[in-house]
Amino acid sequence: MDLKAHIRKVPDFPKPGILFYDISTLLMHPAAWRHTVEALGAAIRPHEPDLLVGIESRGFLTAAPLALHLGLGFIMVRKKGKLPGATTSYTYDLEYGTDTLEIQADAVKPGQRVVVLDDLLATGGTMRATVDLLRKQDAKVSGVGCVIELSFLGGRKLLDVPVASLVSYDS
Ligand code: PRP
Ligand code: MG
Repeated sequence: MDLKAHIRKVPDFPKPGILFYDISTLLMHPAAWRHTVEALGAAIRPHEPDLLVGIESRGFLTAAPLALHLGLGFIMVRKKGKLPGATTSYTYDLEYGTDTLEIQADAVKPGQRVVVLDDLLATGGTMRATVDLLRKQDAKVSGVGCVIELSFLGGRKLLDVPVASLVSYDS
């Protein structure tokens, strides 16, 4: 199936000069979305995850159905202040300023194998920070996956685990 045909490109969003790859149109097409989930499942299954991790917010759309499909639990990595109870946090640098991601402290047991999912890999900063956060909790990150990879931004170079992507754009 040609997944690119189901991904809408929106010019000048959220800022002039940025081309936004919109998965809304993919989500609206049940057959294409089912294919996406199954293909991502096939790509990450060899990493033998015990749990899947989704990154707020669009990563939830990817990780939650995939966890059900593979019969695995699903964990949320959220932006600061959203998760109740004890949390572990990780602050990382952005182009301007910093951002903080959090996970519930009891979400992963030491040594558990996890695969992290997001909708899109761009610079790789969000995925890298999530991997670092999980390692802070002694999780074993056995791979990461995304639907779309903007390969021209080189995000996978920031990652020291296998990266699965279904659709890649090189400009
Ligand atoms: C987008 C996208 C990825 C991230 C990729 O999320 O969903 O999570 O950016 O960018 P990077 O590889 O350069 O870090 P965004 O922060 O826009 O938030 P959202 O998922 O809540 O829409
Ligand atoms: Mg996101």
